Amino acid sequence: MAEPSVVVTGGAGFIGSHTVEQLLKQGCRVAVVDDFSTGKRANLVAVRDNERLTIIEADVSDGLWSCLSGYVQKHGPVQRIIHLAAQTSVVRSVESPLHDLRANYTATMNAADYARRTGAKRVVFASSAAIYGDVETVPVRESQVALPLSPYGLHKLASEQALHYHAAVHGVPASVFRFFNVYGPRQDPNSPYTGVISIFINRALQNLPLTIFGDGTQTRDFVFVGDIARTLAEACLSDRAGFSLANLGTGNATSVTELAKEIVRLCGSTSTISHGPARAGEIKHSLAAITQARELLDYAPEVALADGLGQTVAWYRSALE
Ligand code: NAD
Ligand code: UD1
Repeated sequence: MAEPSVVVTGGAGFIGSHTVEQLLKQGCRVAVVDDFSTGKRANLVAVRDNERLTIIEADVSDGLWSCLSGYVQKHGPVQRIIHLAAQTSVVRSVESPLHDLRANYTATMNAADYARRTGAKRVVFASSAAIYGDVETVPVRESQVALPLSPYGLHKLASEQALHYHAAVHGVPASVFRFFNVYGPRQDPNSPYTGVISIFINRALQNLPLTIFGDGTQTRDFVFVGDIARTLAEACLSDRAGFSLANLGTGNATSVTELAKEIVRLCGSTSTISHGPARAGEIKHSLAAITQARELLDYAPEVALADGLGQTVAWYRSALE
C-alpha cells in the first residue's frame, strides 16, 4: 500500500520541521507548504534529500488548491493535513489584527475547506493556551470558558470552531491541540517574539546578562518540541472519527527564576540574573491539565525539563560555533 500523504503547513518552522522529521521517520510522504516568513530552509537540512519530501513555497492564506496541484498530480491526493502555519506573535496580532485574521483564521478555513472538498481523512491544528485568557485557577482544563485577550487568541479559538464545524457538518475529522510553552532546538532566538528559553540559553552561552521580567515567581508549563512533534504525527495518522480537543503541556509548572538559574548552571555561564519591569498584562500562572490528551492518545510527555534543556543547550551551542 502507498505511504500516507501528509501536508504540513508551516513545516519549515520550529515545531513544523520537527514534525516533518517525525512523519518521514514513520514512512509518510510529506509536502511542506510554507511562505518562509519565519521558517527557514535550514530547519529542514537534515531531511531535504529525502525523496518522500516535497517543499512548496506558498502562502496558505491564498488557499491550498493551486499550490498543491502539481504535488497531487505527481503523488495522488493529500490524505491528511497538519496545519501549523500561522502568524505566531501575540504582540504583532495586537498591532495588526486584520493581518492576524488572514494569517490565522482565513488560513485555517482554507486548510479545512481543502480537506472537505478533497475528502481528506484528517486535519490536525495547532491552537494555543492563549485562547484561555487570564484564568483564575490552574491547571487549566479544556472545559474552561475561553476568553482570549488578543487577536491571536481570538483567531485561534475561531479556527478551532471552524474545524469543529467542518467535523460536525461535513464529516472532516479534526484533532485540535492547545500548545503551552513549547521549547527546543531551532526556536529562533533572534526573533523578537521568541520564547524565554531560547532568549536565556542564547544569552547564557555568550555570558550576557539575563533579565527576568517582574519578580520571577510567575510560572509556565514548558513542553519539549519532540513531545509535540511525536503527538502531532500520531494524531494525524489516527482514524478516530469526529472532533477532538486537548491541551498539550506537561502538567508541571516552573518559575522563571528557577528556569534562569538552571539555564545558567547548564551552560556553565557567568551570566548575571537581574530583574526588569513586569510585562504589561502578563498572566501569572499557566499550567495545562493533560488528562484529555492522555485519554485520547495515551499522551505522556517523555522529555523532562532538565533533559530537554540539555538537548536545547547542546543545539544552541553548536549553532553559535
Ligand atoms: P514558527 O514561526 O517557527 O513556524 C510557523 C511557520 O509557518 C513558519 O515556517 C512560517 O514561515 C510559516 N508561515 C507563517 N505564515 C504562513 C502562511 N500564511 N503561509 C505559509 N506558511 C506560513 O512558529 P512555531 O513556534 O513553530 O509555531 C507553529 C504553530 O504552533 C503555530 O500555529 C503557532 O501559533 C503554534 N503555537 C506555538 C507555540 C510555541 O510555544 N512555539 C505555542 C502555542 C501555539
Ligand atoms: C507567550 C504567548 C502565548 C504563547 C506562548 C508560547 C503572550 C502574552 N503569550 O506566552 O500566547 O502560547 O508564548 O510561546 O505573549 N520572560 C522573562 N525574560 C525574558 C523573556 C521572557 O522574564 O527575557 C518571562 C515572561 O515575562 C514570561 C515568561 O518568561 O513570564 C515566559 O515568556 P514567553 O516565553 O515570552 O511566553 P509567554 O509570555 O508565557
